[in-house]
Amino acid sequence: MTAGLERKNQLAVFRSEFAAEANIDCRDNLDFMAALPGESMKLIVTSPPYNIGKSYERRSPIDRYVREQERVIAECVRLLHPEGSVCWQTGNHVRNGEILPLDIVLHEAFRQHGLKLRNRIIWHFEHGLHCSKRLSGRYETIMWYTKGDNYTFNLDSIRVPSKYPNKKYHKVPKRGELSCNPMGKNPGDLWIFPNVKHNHLEKTIHPCQFPVELVERLVLALTNPGDRVFDPFMGVGTTVIAAVMHGRSGYGCEIAPEYVEVARQRLDLLRSGALKTRPMDRPVYDPALPNGGLK
Ligand SMILES: C[S@@+](CC[C@H](N)C(=O)[O-])C[C@H]1O[C@@H](n2cnc3c(N)ncnc32)[C@H](O)[C@@H]1O
Repeated sequence: MTAGLERKNQLAVFRSEFAAEANIDCRDNLDFMAALPGESMKLIVTSPPYNIGKSYERRSPIDRYVREQERVIAECVRLLHPEGSVCWQTGNHVRNGEILPLDIVLHEAFRQHGLKLRNRIIWHFEHGLHCSKRLSGRYETIMWYTKGDNYTFNLDSIRVPSKYPNKKYHKVPKRGELSCNPMGKNPGDLWIFPNVKHNHLEKTIHPCQFPVELVERLVLALTNPGDRVFDPFMGVGTTVIAAVMHGRSGYGCEIAPEYVEVARQRLDLLRSGALKTRPMDRPVYDPALPNGGLK
């Protein structure tokens, strides 16, 4: 059996020759992390609360929010493998109509620990609140940091189809040879994945869950099969699901019991081959094209 994932009619069928455990708990993240050994996680992916008064968060003064985030980030750095990565996905904190991009606010907390920013990935999506006094927000960012200069990065595993796959060099000495990589191109730092709104295949009771395909790309690029992946603000377990789907062990903690229960149900569905996730290679629906551009 080969490691990886077979797609059959939108069913993610989990197949892996690596032990891919899921370790999730209903616990505060500092408490959960204290029990984990240092340098044990190859990848930490998370989307923390944005402190904007969502159902799962208590709005607090921004200074206090940053201090709380700093404590979590410090523990994440302790857990991070020397060749590992942290991906902190955030949007804006909004106060009296003024926006405060959280990646800017939190960047120093990562730099203080010597982490290096490799990409500020823009995740663009089409659906969200319609603003009347500013432009509607249609992107969030993923700050990708590494602990050192020698880090895991499997570009070939996340290549996307080239625009002109048969394009050839015109000039000698390479005339006639393919000018692009036959395995596809680097996906770049602008990622377009639909966000999980009401008609999304993966929608659960959580108001702000990640699309699985977004975390899959990070898992494939930044870890190897058998590595450990952790999410300190797990929600309904999307990070753990993406890890286990690809033969990595997933760790996650979440304080809301109802979300942990959904995460457990989703993992059970994954193990039985019945979890539906949006395939990474499916084009985004485009109403201007026949059948929305879908096959
Ligand atoms: C933006 S959501 C993450 C959603 C997640 N990415 C998913 O796909 O489901 C942030 C989550 O952090 C949880 N949370 C907040 N404070 C926490 C803490 N101290 N420890 C663990 N989880 C926490 C919230 O209940 C919320 O579900």
